[in-house]
Amino acid sequence: MRVRILGTAAGGGVPQWNCGCAGCAGARRHPGWRRTHASIAVSGSSAGPWYVVNATPDLTDQIEACPDLQPEPGGRRTPLAGVILTDAELDHTLGLFRLREASAVRVLSTDAVWRGLSNGLRLAEVLAPYTDLSWQDLRADESVPLDGGLRVRAVPVSAKRPRYAADEPAGEWSVALRIDGERGSLVYAPCMADWSAELDKELADADCAILDGTFWDDQEPSAAGLSRPTATRMGHLPISGPAGTAERFARLPARHRLYTHLNNTNPLIDPDAPQHALLAAQGIAVAAEGMTLDL
Ligand code: MLT
Ligand code: MN
Ligand code: ZN
Repeated sequence: MRVRILGTAAGGGVPQWNCGCAGCAGARRHPGWRRTHASIAVSGSSAGPWYVVNATPDLTDQIEACPDLQPEPGGRRTPLAGVILTDAELDHTLGLFRLREASAVRVLSTDAVWRGLSNGLRLAEVLAPYTDLSWQDLRADESVPLDGGLRVRAVPVSAKRPRYAADEPAGEWSVALRIDGERGSLVYAPCMADWSAELDKELADADCAILDGTFWDDQEPSAAGLSRPTATRMGHLPISGPAGTAERFARLPARHRLYTHLNNTNPLIDPDAPQHALLAAQGIAVAAEGMTLDL
């Protein structure tokens, strides 16, 4: 299986258009600090077809930055076979509207996420005149086979709904993905409200783990003046501190241990921040955009 890292930022990106925090201001001065919204592409081989995990507002720019995802010269075509969603949050779904030029768009998500997109964003209704949109149920109890020999399964991580779907019933609103290829396996978890037993089981034998690195510490949201006081209250376990994931992450046997979905308030936005060395000492890195992993 081949994995391409397309983006690594939490909602808003880095820089966020209306933010002048240290990370966003730094990203305006140094292009190397910039991060697009978190997403990966996966394929059973280096030749595709490819599945994009989450459709961010940056999706078509991410395709243009990644030759693997571009059409061969000639007519209209795409090596993209579908979009797999971990949740229905806007930073992971607005890009679906940007795919309207495709002849068909195939979405894999949990039932709750599809309901949110249908009722809250009117996705199916809006895209119907443009493209052939289809949905496949992503379940926790069975793997869905993908083109190219991959299999994907949902690992429920949180019941947190997007704000636009506040009136929708409870369900599997946010999941991690376990993706298995012929030789390697990946767990992708950009949103972790807690380190559940189910998730731990999937992580125990994964070759690559890409986890929620939204916040460095639990107090970061209040220090930055965000609406909710702590990382944990926002449904994101922080990296450091007593509730932090780093120590447990360091003990996983995974060959590749990467954080993604960095908020612009995260000190890791600065490539020279000492926090990078702290993670490196534990065998953990921050995912870099453009990175390729062969599993
Ligand atoms: C999240 O990751 O918690 C969501 O994307 C939050 C948001 O953008 O509202
Ligand atoms: Mn997010
Ligand atoms: Zn900022």
